[in-house]
Amino acid sequence: MSSPRVTLLIARARNGVIGHGNALPWHIPEELQHFKRTTTGHALIMGRLTWDSIGRPLPGRRTLVVSRNREWSATGCERADSVADAIAMAAAGSPEHPDISRDEIFVVGGAQIYLAALPHAQRILMTEVDLEPDGDVHLDAPDPQQWRAVTREARTSSIGVGFEIVDYRRI
Ligand SMILES: NC(=O)c1ccc[n+]([C@@H]2O[C@H](COP(=O)([O-])OP(=O)(O)OC[C@H]3O[C@@H](n4cnc5c(N)ncnc54)[C@H](OP(=O)(O)O)[C@@H]3O)[C@@H](O)[C@H]2O)c1
Repeated sequence: MSSPRVTLLIARARNGVIGHGNALPWHIPEELQHFKRTTTGHALIMGRLTWDSIGRPLPGRRTLVVSRNREWSATGCERADSVADAIAMAAAGSPEHPDISRDEIFVVGGAQIYLAALPHAQRILMTEVDLEPDGDVHLDAPDPQQWRAVTREARTSSIGVGFEIVDYRRI
C-alpha cells in the first residue's frame, strides 16, 4: 500500500496568530464545520497542548497525541513519542479503528506540531481568517518557494468574519 498523504489543517489569522491562552482566538461556526467535515473518518495528529485545549476525543476520528512524556495518557486517544511515530502509527492502521481511512492523515496543530510535521507534509489546507486578533501562538505563512495554492474558496461566516479556505500543495 502507498503511504498516506500527510496534510496540515490550519486556521491562521492575517497577522499569523493561530492560538491565544491555549484556545482558538475566534469562534467561527463554519470553520468548525469545515474541520469536522474534512477530518471525519481520518486519523488526527495533535500536540498534547492542543489535546488539552479540546479536552475530549473527537467522534468518528482516531486521535494520536504527541508528547515527550512517556507517562502521559488519556482516554480516547493514543500517545506517540514524535510526529514521525504518529504518522507511522496512523499509516499502519489499528484494529480498534477499522473504519478510519489511511489515504490521508491530518495534522491539526498546534504550532509546535505543525513545525515538526512540515517536512512530512504534501498538503496544507489553510483557513486564512480575515482578522488580526491578539494571540500567543503564531505560525508563518506557507513559503511560496515550496507551496503553491491550487484552490481558494472565499466565504463570509454567519458572524460576519471573512475567511478563505486555501489548498496548498508542495511544489
Ligand atoms: N488555529 C489552528 O488551526 C489551531 C490548531 C490547533 C491548535 N491551535 C492552538 O495552538 C495552541 C497550542 O499550540 P502549541 O504549539 O502551544 O502546542 P501543541 O503543538 O498543541 O502541543 C505542544 C506539546 O506537544 C508535545 N511536543 C511538541 N513537540 C514535540 C516533539 N518534537 N516530540 C514530541 N512531543 C512534542 C509536547 O508535549 P508534552 O509537554 O506533553 O511533552 C508539547 O508540550 C493553542 O492555543 C491552540 O488553541 C490552533
